[in-house]
Amino acid sequence: MRNKIKKILEKKNKSKIVCLTAYSKNISAILDKYCDIILVGDSMANVLYGYENTHKITLENIIQHTQSVRKGVKKSLLVVDMPIGSYKNKKIALKNAQTIIKKTGCDAVKIESNKKNFNIIKTLVNKNIPVMGHIGFTPQFKKKFKIEGNTKTKADLLLKEGMKIEKSGAFSIVLECLTPKASKHITNKLKIPTIGIGSSINCDGQVLVTDDMLGLSGFYPKFVKKYTDLKKIIENAVKKYTKDVKSRKFPSTKNFLNGTKPS
Ligand code: KIV
Repeated sequence: MRNKIKKILEKKNKSKIVCLTAYSKNISAILDKYCDIILVGDSMANVLYGYENTHKITLENIIQHTQSVRKGVKKSLLVVDMPIGSYKNKKIALKNAQTIIKKTGCDAVKIESNKKNFNIIKTLVNKNIPVMGHIGFTPQFKKKFKIEGNTKTKADLLLKEGMKIEKSGAFSIVLECLTPKASKHITNKLKIPTIGIGSSINCDGQVLVTDDMLGLSGFYPKFVKKYTDLKKIIENAVKKYTKDVKSRKFPSTKNFLNGTKPS
């Protein structure tokens, strides 16, 4: 695990870090060949469970999905979001982070910043739990999806927050919805790698919600590039299956199990 984190750190100023989300084994097994980091994000709230925000995701949800994702991950660094309420104070955070790691075998946890929880990061890091920070638009603490760091004062505050997270021992940090200028400034100042989402090319790496980039979620803000239209592909396959079932084309003799004969 230490070695995997070392590799991520070494990428700063050398090569871009590739990160995507996964919530199940079939997807993580595909991503693992290409990604440096796989994130079990609490974005599963919107993507899988159809909730309006990430607040209803529980520790049990996160653990269950990570256990599935873990089965598909061989080489990537597996990072897990700590759900809202699971790191209220140092004691609770440590207990829950240890539970997540013990039950899932993940490599690190991610904690969204509320500008006050630096000591929580420090506590986990001191107990050898690698932590990824998260600043800018932090869905656990902010309601409105909007651009962050769009004035010098706001960008400076974000930099200060990032620096405190770095000082607390985080090994990397997500920058969500920051202006290109703020992202550049923060990425240049921090020694740890920045992973951007909606924060321009100026970050050390990029993360997207996999279901968004595959065209499956129906959530396509401007910062999402839709690399395929999985919704359409699935619909076409289901349409063909429906037609085959109705016209008795499926199952054909090819689909009978060995030793069984159609009567
Ligand atoms: O929950 C999530 O998927 C995330 C990413 C968008 C960074 O936090």
